[in-house]
Formats: sequence, structure tokens, C-alpha cells
Amino acid sequence: MKPIKVGLIGLGVVGAGTYTVLQRNGEEIRRRAGRAIEISMVAVRNTARAEAIVGAGVEIVTDANLVVNHPDIEIVVELIGGCDTARELVLKAIANGKHVVTANKALLALHGNEIFAAAQEKGVMVAFEAAVAGGIPIIKALREGLTANRIESVAGIINGTTNFILSEMRDKGLDFETVLKQAQALGYAEADPTFDIEGIDAAHKLTIMSAIAFGIPVQFGKAYVEGISKLQAVDIRYAEQLGYRIKLLGITRRAVVNGVEGIELRVHPTLIPTKRLIANVEGAMNAVLVQADAVGASLYYGKGAGAEPTASSVIADLVDITRLATADPGNRVPHLAFQPNQMTDVAILPM
Ligand code: HSE
Repeated sequence: MKPIKVGLIGLGVVGAGTYTVLQRNGEEIRRRAGRAIEISMVAVRNTARAEAIVGAGVEIVTDANLVVNHPDIEIVVELIGGCDTARELVLKAIANGKHVVTANKALLALHGNEIFAAAQEKGVMVAFEAAVAGGIPIIKALREGLTANRIESVAGIINGTTNFILSEMRDKGLDFETVLKQAQALGYAEADPTFDIEGIDAAHKLTIMSAIAFGIPVQFGKAYVEGISKLQAVDIRYAEQLGYRIKLLGITRRAVVNGVEGIELRVHPTLIPTKRLIANVEGAMNAVLVQADAVGASLYYGKGAGAEPTASSVIADLVDITRLATADPGNRVPHLAFQPNQMTDVAILPM
């Protein structure tokens, strides 16, 4: 069977990682997917850099429209980040009948409802494991592994930059600005680090998890969001003396407030008793704690950012789509798209 052709838009840290892992583990991935996965085209700004990364068989272009319009490409991988151009390209790809893989949490948190509806309508898949918690397969866990459960809550450390900053401030007594610069140098931080520091990146990821866990539309605008920029080393020290660790948590859970049933959606610094497992998640690592009725508590831990951990999730989505699209190319596969359910009219509770 001929390889499934993939077009990459963006060849930054995650794009390059995706290419590298697909090259390295290509044979095993082919066996698992039932078909080879071939990156046949990449759209980039800097062609010289791209030439140094990809092999001769990959067409390098500077116009991403050539990827989303190419008749042979079945899956478009969007890795450019940001919202406007990414939204336009993803919607064009869907309109052209392409499946889409994206790591773009901001795009899905803000425009997910429109994108998922367009994909549903067209009968294509939109997969986004890499958008939340990097290499941790948390979307798969929430949507598939825990599908028998009524999920009660999802709470997690889902921003590596802020967790790194809090860990370094505590362990080394460094001040906020110094550690932020280190996080930027290590490549953890977003292009605009305000997204990390002020909890916006975590809220994007939480919004997506909440939609999957509770079957509600993405409603980023209703989240309560508070970051770590007002924290000082002294807050962290006092918390430790009292037996607590401060973590930036994203929390979404079922709740009743003033007699109204709904879903809470909030990101803020949280005091966690130091003996709890999640309090001991250090550095740029991520962890997500899910409470569900049948399984009880389950905790998912791993690298939340970086080239190959995030590529691991991008490729998992490529394999899923390849399997499903190859088994029945005309099949509408609902489980990779957003699935609204009976909860869609439940309010996001105000804080
Ligand atoms: N800036 C993000 C973080 C990158 O620090 O977690 C991964 O989404």
C-alpha cells in the first residue's frame, strides 16, 4: 500500500522533532499504522534551515496554501502556533477534505467549536493530542481510556514554564525574572511568555481538557485565570514552612454554586500539601490528576514540552488517523473529533 502523504506547516522545534522521530522509528510506526507515513511537503519561512533538517525527497515551500491545497496530501499538520493564520489554514485544509493534526492549544481553545463543527460536517478528523501536556497522552486517556467513567474533576500542572520557575525559586532562592530568563533560554516558554506567566497557556489547555472530559463546547472566555507573576520567593518559603507547595494548577470539575449545576474552569496558584504526589512534580514536568467514578483517581505524569515528547503525541495522532482513514477512507470517525453530549447546555460557573 502506498504511504499516506503528510504536509507539515511549520518546522520549528516540534516540526523538526516530528520529522526526526518519524525517520528514526519509521519502520515500527509503519507496522503499527498499517501503512507508511511520509512527510512529503513542508511549509516554512526559512528554506535554508529546512534543507538542513529534511531529506531530499521532501518538497520545501514557503506558501502554506500549497500544502493545504495539494491533492496528494491527506493529512495536514499545523505547527505554526498563533490564531489567525493557523485558523485560516486549518479551515481550508478541512474544506479540502484533509485530516488535520495540530499542537495549537490557543487555536482550539478559541476557535475549537468552529473547527470541530467544520470537520464533523466534512467527515474528516481533527486530532490534537500534542496541544495539551506535550508528550502525556492525556486526551486519549480522557476520551478513550476513561470512556466508561463519569469524570468528576481534572486538575493539573499543565504549564512547564511556570512549574520550572516555581521549582527554581524554591530550590535555589532565585528571583522570578532570573528564572524566567532561564526558562526562555531552555525553550520552555511561549513566544510571548506572558501566556505562560499569567496562566493563559494553562487555561487554553484546561479549556480543551474540560471540553473532552465533560462533553461541553470549548469556552475559554469563561475561565478564571490568574498566573504566578505576583508570587514572591517569600510566599514560596512560608508555604513550605506550613507544609505546602505552591503550584499553578488548572482545575475543571463538576460543581453546584448557588443551586446551579455546572462546570468550573479555573487556573490559579494553589497550595498543595507537600506529601501529595502532584506537589512533587518539579521543573518543567507536567502532571494531570483525574477523578472519575469507576476508576477513582488516576495521575498522568511526563514531559509537557520539548521537541520529541511533543512529536510523540503528533505522531500518535498521525498513526490514529492513518489507521482509521485507511480502514475506511469514507468513514466519519467521530471519536477523534469533538463530541458534544448532554452536557452542552451546562453553564461554566462564575468564580
Ligand atoms: N510554554 C508551554 C509550557 C509549552 O511551558 O508548558 C508547552 O505547551
